[in-house]
Amino acid sequence: MKISGERLLADLNQLKRFTDTPGKGVTRFSYGENDEKARQYLRETAESCGFSVRTDPVGNMVIGLPGSGDQAEIIRIGSHIDTVRNGGWLDGIYGVVSGLEVLRTLAENGNGRASDVEVVIFAEEEGSNFGSTMTGSKFAAGVYGESDLDRLKDEEGRTLREILRQCGYSPYRKEEVIWDFSRVKAMLEIHIEQGPVLEQEGNSIGIVDAIFGMTTVEVTITGTGNHAGATPMRYRRDAMAAAAQCITEVERIARKDPDGIAVATVGKAAVLPNCSNVIPEKVIFTVEVREKRKERIDQVISEIEEAITQICTQRGTACEIRKLAESRPYRMDERLIKLMSGLASEAGFGYQIMDSGAVHDTCVIAPHAPSGMLFVPSKGGRSHVPYEDTDPDDLLRGAQLLLDTVLAL
Ligand code: HGY
Ligand code: MN
Ligand code: MN
Repeated sequence: MKISGERLLADLNQLKRFTDTPGKGVTRFSYGENDEKARQYLRETAESCGFSVRTDPVGNMVIGLPGSGDQAEIIRIGSHIDTVRNGGWLDGIYGVVSGLEVLRTLAENGNGRASDVEVVIFAEEEGSNFGSTMTGSKFAAGVYGESDLDRLKDEEGRTLREILRQCGYSPYRKEEVIWDFSRVKAMLEIHIEQGPVLEQEGNSIGIVDAIFGMTTVEVTITGTGNHAGATPMRYRRDAMAAAAQCITEVERIARKDPDGIAVATVGKAAVLPNCSNVIPEKVIFTVEVREKRKERIDQVISEIEEAITQICTQRGTACEIRKLAESRPYRMDERLIKLMSGLASEAGFGYQIMDSGAVHDTCVIAPHAPSGMLFVPSKGGRSHVPYEDTDPDDLLRGAQLLLDTVLAL
């Protein structure tokens, strides 16, 4: 049984048009206009195949044959359709479209497995709205509950609850969001690697062993705003200079990791009032740390927090650090790793078993159901940028292996 590569690529090329930044990569935050357009496209495509589509109160969408929701055992193939700002055309959505292609191929071949398969679109995986990655899957796994609807706020201070209401989602009911994991036979996700390893090693398939965990904190440094010309250097409490010193310290601490595994990034910052002739009063920035071991994430984060506090004390600037989100590292199901490795080698695909520095919804689901992840190479090892790309043959090879895995389960 073969997937249709033409259909898969056609869907991906249609969906990349739904972006807030045409010509500058794909920007499609959950709950935004283009998110809805992509959902509508997928809904119509699914319904034209006779599939049913249901969406839970936080925006997780499930596509399956009518009645799939009552199946005793279900295989879920999932990923996300939201992106970072000016991101790529494949991150997440490749996994959703591949899942849909697997379901379509099973159904049109009259294969009984079709009724046990559901395709899941997790909402807000990137955390672009709230700084919390994998939000939809965290609600599905019970990591998040109703109080998080009011805790999570976007840059305008709108809560997730308000945004969901404005988008017309039904009011939160726990039983409609939390998964019954006793029914989930397996969770599978295929994704672009988003790094250089497969390309460097000359392999076309990655089979994921461990998905890194991550902790994201928000640091607010407050100094004394003042005139940039009339304030002598000795009288300054410059929030920007303090932040700059902290940010270099974040990099130094991560770089000195003896195992060379930990990564730390300051990816988002705001300067207030952000005028060239005003000494900055306040600087707010995020720090995220990732590693494959929870205890190492905690150690690196606390070393960074200590360093930031010390720098601010020395400089007389106030500092406040609050945790935005965290996720635990998790190893994929051994049985699935073995099954997918066997199928890849039978198919003659060059593959390797590897870790994932990127986080994925599957690492939130993995503690509750046997989970497996497949990677396909990223050109130039780049992702979360407009240049994100993967060779079409690699995209099709991955989707075909996903179908073969579903058939073999
Ligand atoms: O940040 C990540 O690893 C994922 O792309 N959300
Ligand atoms: Mn992703
Ligand atoms: Mn991503």
